Amino acid sequence: MKLRIDIKVATPKEWIIRVLENLPLFLQDHANNERKVSTVALSFVAKYPDRVDIIDELIETAIEEMEHFREVHKIMFDRKIQLTHQIEEDLYMKELIELARNGKDDRFLDRLIIASLVECRGAERFRIVYENITEPDLKVFYHKLWASEAKHSEVYVKMALRYFPESVVYQRLNELIEAESVIMLKQPFSGKMH
Ligand SMILES: [Fe+2]
Ligand SMILES: [Fe+2]
Repeated sequence: MKLRIDIKVATPKEWIIRVLENLPLFLQDHANNERKVSTVALSFVAKYPDRVDIIDELIETAIEEMEHFREVHKIMFDRKIQLTHQIEEDLYMKELIELARNGKDDRFLDRLIIASLVECRGAERFRIVYENITEPDLKVFYHKLWASEAKHSEVYVKMALRYFPESVVYQRLNELIEAESVIMLKQPFSGKMH
């Protein structure tokens, strides 16, 4: 049973160039993203309370994302960078969620796979930050987050496999991996997470 996702297209070099040009902006956006993915984990609990086998893992994931939020905020606070209102819509997330099919089971599966893909892309990008950033504290931090988001990506695949046959999960996963690459490449590189 394979849990690790192999994303199709690597993030282009320009992404990290923009991130390093304006680190405060990236940290602000990163913080907002951690807060949001914690909410995503909890929204599964709210929408699917009958899927009792995954509630513990969802709560655990939400707590870990909230812990990441706290850690990014601490880094920002020490650098006198404030949190922001999130004004602009995250089109990467919006377009991915639009791919989720209707129908109770289909939607549940698609939302789990999309969550896994978002975590996987996040892990890839934190690895890129880790490899390119020079500040020692941030290097340590992003190395840790790379591992943590990669684990979350696997956790969501594992949740899907608990409720759907392997063939169904991997077929849909492959379709959405393709789609994620297209959506990722469409986004302008603005120095933010997506
Ligand atoms: Fe996180
Ligand atoms: Fe995560």
